[in-house]
Amino acid sequence: MFALQAARGGSQAELHAQLLEQARALVAGERDFTANAGNLASLVFHTLPDLNWAGFYWMKQRELVLGPFQGKPACVRIALGRGVCGTAARERRTILVPDVNAFPGHIACDAASASEVVVPVIAGTRVLGVLDLDSPLRGRFDEADARTLEALVRIFLESTDLEP
Ligand code: SME
Repeated sequence: MFALQAARGGSQAELHAQLLEQARALVAGERDFTANAGNLASLVFHTLPDLNWAGFYWMKQRELVLGPFQGKPACVRIALGRGVCGTAARERRTILVPDVNAFPGHIACDAASASEVVVPVIAGTRVLGVLDLDSPLRGRFDEADARTLEALVRIFLESTDLEP
């Protein structure tokens, strides 16, 4: 039975190592796509400080559609190339946005969001979707967050059979 560990404190690197260790434990022995995505969104939301939203969008017919998440209800459909999520999906790269008001085309699902990081979920050549995190603090996310979230996405991809 998985138990969510309280953050041990210490450095950002320690917290990130703990997050990835817990992510591996959480998906161990389970290959269901939705179950693993849902639990990983919850793990991220409850482990990393200062988030107001964490979750997935899945690519369906050239549109991102809301998937498992934690936080307030969010925009359901985002066209490829639109907003931070659609841009990360189209450009197939992680995007760090220190100030969402300075990102042209940012889609404000929650007015409280001030900064954002979006990591594409790519299996082989196929963009399955994105992992999106929002924070009410400006400049909340840095390169270390981006690399750790990319590692978390790899743990997710290895944990499951491909959908949607
Ligand atoms: N801000 C995102 C939209 C998704 S919500 O933040 C959950 C964007 O610009 O793509």
